[in-house]
This record gives sequence, C-alpha cells and structure tokens, in this order.
Amino acid sequence: MTVTTLPTPAVLIDQHRVSRNIARLAQATAAAGLRLRPHTKTHKSPVVARWQLAAGAVGICCAKLSEAEVFADAGISDIRIPYPLHPAVADRLLALARRTHVSFIVDHLDVARGWSRVLSEAGMTVDVLVKIDVGFHRCGIAPATDTAVPFITAVAQLPGLRLVGLLSHAGQAYHAASEADLRTMAEEEAATLRALQAACAAQGVALPELSAGATPTARFSVSQPGLTEYRAGNYVYLDRTQVGLGAGTLDDCALTVLARVVSAPAPDRVVLDAGSKTLSSDGARGFTPGTGYGVVLRHRPDAHGAHVEQLADPSLTLERLSEEHATVRVTGNQALVPGDLVRIVPNHSCVVSNLVDQAWLVDPHHSVTALPIAARGCLT
Ligand SMILES: Cc1ncc(COP(=O)(O)O)c(C=O)c1O
Repeated sequence: MTVTTLPTPAVLIDQHRVSRNIARLAQATAAAGLRLRPHTKTHKSPVVARWQLAAGAVGICCAKLSEAEVFADAGISDIRIPYPLHPAVADRLLALARRTHVSFIVDHLDVARGWSRVLSEAGMTVDVLVKIDVGFHRCGIAPATDTAVPFITAVAQLPGLRLVGLLSHAGQAYHAASEADLRTMAEEEAATLRALQAACAAQGVALPELSAGATPTARFSVSQPGLTEYRAGNYVYLDRTQVGLGAGTLDDCALTVLARVVSAPAPDRVVLDAGSKTLSSDGARGFTPGTGYGVVLRHRPDAHGAHVEQLADPSLTLERLSEEHATVRVTGNQALVPGDLVRIVPNHSCVVSNLVDQAWLVDPHHSVTALPIAARGCLT
C-alpha cells in the first residue's frame, strides 16, 4: 500500500525523519554523558520505544500507570513515571513494580508517607525522585533551600522509598519568547537542581540523579553540568510548535496528517476531511506563533502516483476546525480541487497520536505499514 491509497484522514510517520530525530538526540546526549530516557507520551507506541532503546536510551518515561502497563506488557523493563501518582493506585503500582523496574516522583509529604506505608507493608522498595518546580508552576516543590531541603531529607528517611534524585520539567519553555529565553531557562533549571543537590549533600543526603527534560530546551540542557538524565518526549516527531521554538525545521517533523480536499465551495476556501477529532484544537505556540491549526503541505504524486513532494504552501491557512472538517483559507490562485491530498504538520503532535489507534509508517519509497499506537487513550 502507498500513501496515496490510504483512507483519509490518516496519521503518517515518516520513517527517515523519525529515525533521524531519534539518532540526533541519542548522539547529543551520549556526547554530553547524559542518559536519555525518552518520554513516550508523544508516540504511545512500544514499536517506537524499541527504536529509542536500540539507539541507546536507558529506559522510558510514561505519564500514567495505564501507559506504563502497556509498555511493560511489551517487555520494556525500566519505566519512570514522572507524574505525581497517588496511593489510590497502589495495587496497580505494586503489580507493575513486581514485573518491571519502575520509579516515580513525589512532591507532597502526605503522599510520600502514604506510598511509604503501602510499599513497606508489601515488603517492597521503589525508586522515587523529588519533583522540583523550576518555573512551570505545575507540579513540584518550590526550590527554595529552606523548605526544599527539609522535604527532601524527610523523603530520604521513608522506608519503602529509595530516594535516587531530583526531577524537573521546564514546561515554561513552551512560552519562551526567544532562543535567549530558552537558554536561560535551561541554565537556571540545571543550576537549581545542582544547588539543591549540594545543599542536601551537606545534610548527608545523596542525590545521584538529576533528571531534566523538555524538547524546547534540550539543545541547551545537554551542555549543562550536573544533569545525569534527559527525558525529552516530543523530539521524536516534533511539530509546528517545536519549529516555532527553534527545536527543528518543518523538514524534521516526522508526524503529518494526510487529508483530502472534500469541498471547494469558493475560490478562497477549501475544506479538508480532518477536523478537531484528528488534529486536536491546540493552537500554535512559538516565538511568533503562526495562525491556525497547522501548516498545510502540498502533496503531489508523480506520474506513477508514488513520489510525493511536500512543500509548505503559505497561501493555505488552516483557519477553522469542526469535528470532521478543516476550513482552509486560500489566498492567491488555488489549484486544489476535491480529491486532492494535502499533508498537515499539526501544532501539537503528542495529542494527534493519542487520537488514533493506528498511524502509518511511511518508508522512503512511500510504501506504508501500520504502526499500532498501543497506549493510545491510556489516561488512568
Ligand atoms: C514531567 C515531564 N517530563 C518530560 C516531558 C517531555 O517534554 P517534551 O515533550 O517537551 O520533550 C514532559 C512533557 O509533558 C513532562 O510532563
């Protein structure tokens, strides 16, 4: 089967680009002496995780237990969950920890004590990291040493928990205004973790791991001293937001949505068969965010219907989504007619992956094979 024969809309993964993205970060982290532990929230596919592990990743991250269960079922043996799990899910965590090496984060003392009780009663010890808020103001304890050090010291003393380090996610990078901003965020994140590590060491608490991770800051974080692990997720596919933040180019974006023109009601308007149920309603982010719901690429098969040219077409703006329709504003001479195919680089590829059971892996000859997204929809 080739791209042009697929039912649309379809989520396509370019094999060459995904391999190149995996190799680039694997090389950059290896050269910096950092262990790479990709966050699988972007692809939710054990197939893709295995490529990352084959390229040198030490393990993976999952956002949720149900994702982790899918990856453990697929035989992946080292799974970190950088999510504030509550002991309400203790039975599942214990079951997972009995069959794979699992670690997770804590950022609340009552919760940490709850886990300590559950794990001690089960006669088990599980690795944990303390989550530090480095400026995103989502999860994590505040980094001020006068409060953070007592917290970390208290966690270090809890039976059933083996405190292995600190973990952060500079999600504020998605709101950076410039390259300089991103560089500063990466520097400050690493400096914050190092300072806490030193302050805890002075109290006799060793924190061997300093784990950071976010695709926009990755290119600056890899050269920061002290970090031991990097947990990028989106780097595997990239998307229009990452292009807007300088983390890659449109030619690096491995995930695109194949859509067909289904209506051309006016010279300045065409309608595609991919709406918010495929592309999500996420807006663009970046230093100067683009308008609309993605970049439209022209899709031109050659005389044999095989070779596919992909060019960003600035005359096409994906300005409105309904559930099953994308309304594209056309400026200039539009040559699109019903039946034509286009590809869309979405604003946020992680959400798109989660909306389909299966993507299509496209090889350099434009042949496609099914790529199951086994952990799609795993949110518990
Ligand atoms: C805790 C945590 N770590 C790592 C990541 C990976 O970030 P990115 O997809 O920007 O690489 C995320 C993404 O949401 C995250 O929440």
